[in-house]
Amino acid sequence: MTLLAEVAAEALAAIHARGTHRRMRVLDGAQAPRMIVDGREVLLFAGSNYLDLAHHPEVVEAAARAARDIGCAAGGSRLISGNLALHEALEEDLAKFFQTETALAFSTGYAANLGVIPALVGKGDAVVSDALSHASIVDGCRLSRAAVRVFPHGDTEALDHVLEIASRDHRRVLLAIDGVYSMDGDVAPVAEMVALAERHRAMVLLDDAHGTGTLGAQGRGSAEWCGVTSGIDVLLGALGKGLGSFGAFVVGSRALRELLVNVARSFIFTCALAPPQVAAARAALGIARREPWRRERLQANAARLRQRLAARGVDTRPSTTHIVPVRIGENGAAMAVCERLLERGFYAQGIRHPSVPEGTARLRLTPMASHGEDEIDALAEAVVDEVDRAR
Ligand SMILES: Cc1ncc(COP(=O)(O)O)c(C=O)c1O
Repeated sequence: MTLLAEVAAEALAAIHARGTHRRMRVLDGAQAPRMIVDGREVLLFAGSNYLDLAHHPEVVEAAARAARDIGCAAGGSRLISGNLALHEALEEDLAKFFQTETALAFSTGYAANLGVIPALVGKGDAVVSDALSHASIVDGCRLSRAAVRVFPHGDTEALDHVLEIASRDHRRVLLAIDGVYSMDGDVAPVAEMVALAERHRAMVLLDDAHGTGTLGAQGRGSAEWCGVTSGIDVLLGALGKGLGSFGAFVVGSRALRELLVNVARSFIFTCALAPPQVAAARAALGIARREPWRRERLQANAARLRQRLAARGVDTRPSTTHIVPVRIGENGAAMAVCERLLERGFYAQGIRHPSVPEGTARLRLTPMASHGEDEIDALAEAVVDEVDRAR
């Protein structure tokens, strides 16, 4: 046995023993509410193409045109030959849309958190974060070498206390939180948290990967949904979820952009987004802006799903958005329900530790704007049956 084979066998045996072994399903066909998953046609309730823009003709045409006119790669990092007029145009669109001074695109949301957090805090500083923060916030905190202080999920009283101590004991403090929790579908109490950060003179990073385009009257996300118009220093959004393309961005002040261009390692030491991705994101942003019915339908579909499930005794708390969890508890049971739903023609992903805390394995249901009410009802019916069977 090679050393690598030994390492892999040992780690994988432990993963199997925990019941958390993962495999990738293969999807085929156009990104749509109905797709081929592992060779079987099913209704897709597991994706993040929430507004159904990834295969929108205008988005596809924009990407194709950019590939034809410019090419399939930016040809370098943003600071070395890869900064295209197209990137700057996307960033102007984003800054205008979010009513901020500037925007800066990153390769992914994961990379953005790895770059932004260490750009803002380091040794001698503190970063304060929610217990259920996304892995990319957690990893960004670790990379920063700042002291990490965690408060219980959504608990503003505890946050007040943690911020008070952090600001007393550290030079600078950053509050880094998610807008929409990607595995629970609840929205952070952004207004209260931003007010607390202001009171304790902490900077605020709001990671709104799942709120971009999907929440708020204009689609500006969870801050807009919570009525917050100021006090967020860094708003991080996704291009690869609701906006149906790839990549991520941050919006904020001129000073923020200049700082990140100069120090954010995950911005500096990586290829710039490819032209088709950038062009697709610009087209999708335009559609999201002028077609509010997409987020309205998305939220209506999610509300219908939650209501249908609740009426039959299936709890979807704490979701208030388009991410609808159904807690099952035990890993094997959650994955068994996921498999049975696939057999019945629904792809709803089972989620286990470490994506969620141990003992809280769940189905994560994500309707799209373009699912019909009959499809939502059929899913609810099948979930109720299978969850009942698993209990
Ligand atoms: C809250 C949050 N932040 C960041 C990310 C990472 O974004 P990306 O997929 O663009 O890397 C995700 C991904 O699901 C997320 O849920």
